[in-house]
Amino acid sequence: MIPGDGIGREVVAQGLKVLSAVLPSDVKLETEEYDLGARRYHATGEILPDAELESLKGHDAILLGAIGDPSVPAGVLERGLLLKLRFAFDHYVNLRPSKLFPHTATPLAGRPDIDFVVVREGTEGPYTGNGGSLRTGTPAEVATEVSVNTALGVERVVRDAYERAQARPRKKLTLVHKNNVLVYAGQLWKSVFDRVGREYPEVTTDYLHVDAATIFLVTRPEQFDVIVTDNLFGDILTDLAAAVTGGIGLAASGNINPDGAFPSMFEPVHGSAPDIAGTGKADPTATVLSVALLLRHLGYEAEAARIEAAVADDLAERDGAAPRSTDETGDALARRVAG
Ligand code: NAI
Ligand code: MG
Repeated sequence: MIPGDGIGREVVAQGLKVLSAVLPSDVKLETEEYDLGARRYHATGEILPDAELESLKGHDAILLGAIGDPSVPAGVLERGLLLKLRFAFDHYVNLRPSKLFPHTATPLAGRPDIDFVVVREGTEGPYTGNGGSLRTGTPAEVATEVSVNTALGVERVVRDAYERAQARPRKKLTLVHKNNVLVYAGQLWKSVFDRVGREYPEVTTDYLHVDAATIFLVTRPEQFDVIVTDNLFGDILTDLAAAVTGGIGLAASGNINPDGAFPSMFEPVHGSAPDIAGTGKADPTATVLSVALLLRHLGYEAEAARIEAAVADDLAERDGAAPRSTDETGDALARRVAG
């Protein structure tokens, strides 16, 4: 567990509560908490020491709250901790399901049936730190941030997305990119997508430019099943997807190393929310749903499904009820999964 900063600590406690409640008695849960984030950084100057990175490797999975605090310059912890973990553990599949549960508020008219998953590339694109700045701080400053796309990196995430589409009832996969302008990266993505697609004749495919995708995620979200896209586009699209499916308090994610060489890491899509940290207002549901993804990844399908059902039932009961505290929601979900 890396509870991290702000509401991260509050929501991870609830995730652990529900995880402990859902596991069958013959499964022994061992946890180790890593003190990483702003507090540690201020105390010791450390962000993610190599010894801790090495020790994290020994675990089956990682549950992370959120990283980032206004007291630390933007990017220091996000890059040095979060991105470092995703790169070091080769989390090339960033899985972000979007489902509109019944009784959940959505800004969309007509309550469309939304149930899709975004497979976001997690180790390449513009997030690799391949750039720099020249003449920094002068009127002639130059900044570059080069998007890295490799045939190997694109193929493995595209293949994973086809596998996921193949396993879902609708078997539909949409590639989102911007190949009319980002022609070099776009051409690589499109050609790999088409080539790998020939191995999955049952999967229906589709292509959208990212700007058009933002329109259709709002006007016709029910048309999506599985979306595969690059690191940056996926980051943006999944916040939009969260906003139309009940808000950021419900959006879960997994940073997955499908090869199993390193532990996968599960976390809510949201950040440390310094504006509400310490108030007990944070919704822990996104973290609890991330625990369900963690369990499914480790082969505990029944337990994952029980958590998702508990969330659906709980959301129905929340409808119109007075708001609860972080802890109360965690307790309610733990009670439900325990049966
Ligand atoms: P944020 O997701 O922390 O907050 C955005 C808005 O959503 C805020 O108004 C917040 O109160 C609300 N919100 C977020 N989670 C909520 C929850 N569980 N329940 C109720 N309301 C919730 O994004 P923001 O403000 O852009 O970033 C704050 C810090 O978090 C920054 O340092 C940022 O870099 C970091 N961050 C870290 C992430 C991670 O650890 N994976 C992801 C996104 C941001
Ligand atoms: Mg984001």
